Amino acid sequence: MFIKKEELNLNTLPKHIAFIIDGNGRWAKKRGMPRSFGHKMGMQTVKKIVTDCYDLGIKVVSIFAFSAENWKRPKKEVDYLFNLFYEYLTKNKSLFLEKNIQFRVMGDYTKLPKDLSDEIESVINLTKNNSKLILNIGINYGGQDEILRAVNLAIKDGKELLTKEDFENYLFTKNLSNPDLIIRTSGEERLSNFMLWQCAYSELYFTKTYWPSFNKKQLEKALINYQKRNRKFGAIKEE
Ligand code: IPE
Ligand code: IPE
Ligand code: MG
Repeated sequence: MFIKKEELNLNTLPKHIAFIIDGNGRWAKKRGMPRSFGHKMGMQTVKKIVTDCYDLGIKVVSIFAFSAENWKRPKKEVDYLFNLFYEYLTKNKSLFLEKNIQFRVMGDYTKLPKDLSDEIESVINLTKNNSKLILNIGINYGGQDEILRAVNLAIKDGKELLTKEDFENYLFTKNLSNPDLIIRTSGEERLSNFMLWQCAYSELYFTKTYWPSFNKKQLEKALINYQKRNRKFGAIKEE
């Protein structure tokens, strides 16, 4: 029997995709390798998936790279991750400029090692006027911390009653649209403190694939699945 292949509709792609990249450690363990190898290969996947999103014309890509809770991991692993991020930025900043990619960060990056936080700041400034794709990385990021920080910043500004729009100006995602689609790899089906304010009406997609094995084909599968959803935002919308 002939089964029609489902096709991706390039006209109804999400504007903002957020990735909770998970499973680097388990991917490596399954191959008898150290967790660090999983992180290294996971970083390759980040590069490839960002390129795939760029080629598809996605406007905003958020990536949860290091949570405010990931400090609980052994120092050696944390340091390895920070080195990887540093390397990623130094190696890719010219590409960001060439491809008109704006680099942004969610999270308190000033608490990271100085060379990394300086590099982050420099790449943010260097790319701030770029507009083809916004690459928004969550690093030392927690959704609850972000909301609390916003409240405290508003208090500091002498604000009393805020509208939703006022409040959003105090979030790291100021001026960014909310994620239309959140993809989490590795089979875990939770948000782990990711974009708690912004996820209110995001479509959630979970796959068992570990992040280093996630590829363009699987991204397309997630997007086809997203395109079948009926986003209602509380209203009544016929299928
Ligand atoms: C995701 O992979 C990357 C980070 C959280 C930094 P993990 O390191 O969480 O991998 P697992 O979940 O232990 O397999
Ligand atoms: C979520 O992954 C954080 C990132 C992807 C950076 P974790 O592996 O830290 O999440 P939990 O601990 O399984 O919830
Ligand atoms: Mg994990």
